[in-house]
Amino acid sequence: MTQDELKTLVGRAALKYVVPGEIVGVGTGSTVNKFIEALATMKDQVPGAVSSSVASTERLQAIGVRVFDLNEVGELAVYIDGADEIDGRGHMVKGGGAALTREKIVAAQSRRFICIADDSKRVEVLGRFPIPVEVIPMATQRLVRQFALQGGTATVRLKDGQPLVTDNGQHILDVTGLQVREPLAFETQVSQWPGVVTVGVFAHQKAAVCLLATPGGVQTIAY
Ligand code: 5RP
Repeated sequence: MTQDELKTLVGRAALKYVVPGEIVGVGTGSTVNKFIEALATMKDQVPGAVSSSVASTERLQAIGVRVFDLNEVGELAVYIDGADEIDGRGHMVKGGGAALTREKIVAAQSRRFICIADDSKRVEVLGRFPIPVEVIPMATQRLVRQFALQGGTATVRLKDGQPLVTDNGQHILDVTGLQVREPLAFETQVSQWPGVVTVGVFAHQKAAVCLLATPGGVQTIAY
């Protein structure tokens, strides 16, 4: 099975976590795009969605799903999103699609985070994938130095040769060379550094369930 087929499989499997009658939280990325395609089949059963990015909003609207502002809604029953990495406790690295800040906000307002991933995303220790960090541009170089003190190498993510600008008008640092053995402590610490908008380690907003697509089918892992 190709990775694309695995993503389709797990995108469809996530439908069973959508609660009829309830607004659903929707993440960002190629796996979520498969979920959005599948959601078209039950769009009449939900009042709408809260989206974590402009890209997902456009896809949701294209299939006729109403997109609510987070400020208009209360707690969401579920938030469905992908991950760049997930460990054995449901901690994740996210932000490969640069949507980490809105993803963390919507996840924080949701009762359950349902992570949809293929089995290439499973890791023992977070940090194999570069850790995305959304930053205020004026703080970039001091944060690069701060990560270097921790043993990491932070580089500004580029798009068309220029710093990528997020949906929130900020920049992304991708940090390599760190092994995150204590995700909760790491997230707490880095979140406090001036200039950090959001660190892409999701330990406080970890997954409640991971639907993991493998060639043998979709495994359900509850944490
Ligand atoms: C976007 C994300 C994505 O969920 C993550 O990058 C996984 O993406 P994909 O499903 O394309 O592998 O965090 O900011």
